[in-house]
Amino acid sequence: MDYTKAIEVAKNVFWVGVTDEKSFFRSNSYLIKGENEAVLIDPGSLVQYEQIRDKVLSIAPKEQLKYVVCQHQDPDVSSALYFFVKEGFKFKTIAHSRVSALLVFYSKDLDLYNIDYHDFSLEWDNGKKLEFIFTPYFHSPGAFATYEPEKKLLFSSDIFGAFQKDWDLYADEHYFDAMKAFNELYVPSSEIANFTIKKFEQKEINMILPQHGSIIKKELVKSAMDTLKEMKAGIFLENATAKIADMETTSEIPQEMLNEMLDIVAKRAAEVLGKEEAEKIKQEVLNGKPATSDSIKEFMLKLREKNRIASAVVKMPLINYAMDNADKLKGKIPSLVKEIIYL
Ligand SMILES: [Fe+2]
Ligand SMILES: [Fe+2]
Repeated sequence: MDYTKAIEVAKNVFWVGVTDEKSFFRSNSYLIKGENEAVLIDPGSLVQYEQIRDKVLSIAPKEQLKYVVCQHQDPDVSSALYFFVKEGFKFKTIAHSRVSALLVFYSKDLDLYNIDYHDFSLEWDNGKKLEFIFTPYFHSPGAFATYEPEKKLLFSSDIFGAFQKDWDLYADEHYFDAMKAFNELYVPSSEIANFTIKKFEQKEINMILPQHGSIIKKELVKSAMDTLKEMKAGIFLENATAKIADMETTSEIPQEMLNEMLDIVAKRAAEVLGKEEAEKIKQEVLNGKPATSDSIKEFMLKLREKNRIASAVVKMPLINYAMDNADKLKGKIPSLVKEIIYL
């Protein structure tokens, strides 16, 4: 697939995202083309503006871009608004009023359309409809998703996004770990994630199109929903941290558990750094010996040297593991886990 060009992912729906081989945090934008009008969903960032603009213009002429949907205000999602306005595009900016309040800091000249004042819907291109699904606090107070009822597409913004090195436009069954690694840190709590996923479950969905990561086709939609519903997230990390800090510690961790923990770190590291790099670090720290508390700790430290996100995404599953296995450890949590909390 040629990612330097716009790619049609459903009839008249185009991926117009960013091609950056080095990034593990890629941004997707999408363009829906009607007969006379076009809608851009999540216009992208200031620094990637030119790539997105060129892809948009390869599909629709400037005057047809009548609507730009900003599903929340993060710079990776919406800061390109500044250049779209500056370069003379004339469009309505579609957002929730809580998002609009911040979008005006990207440009003073926005023609705003607040979905919460318009029954969470938009009619465009002579009768086509878009529905907006409010997803508060996942991850921003005014965040929302966009549903295209004709083709049953869900543009989900950060929800269902992922941190991943080996990016592909379409997700396969290996996507879910990378998706969890991103979402569990972004949503404040599992309850909030569930609130949103239950709303999505009321819709028939043929495809999920997130703003990071890969597009999820119909056959994986249910597994994707289930993964986010079952995920422990956000404030859980703090609660678990406090609980672990209160527990008695022991340095005697069964070898089998050390191996499992090392595998957790290696698997998540591979998502963010790529399999080769993760395997290289693993071999360096093991140095031909079985896993120990120290080698796992060293692995974590090396990940942090590479980038903060790599160490952050392995922290959550390790804490989950420690909490799930607290019984096996007879109420004693290894000091290793206490130490990684602060990494
Ligand atoms: Fe965001
Ligand atoms: Fe984002």
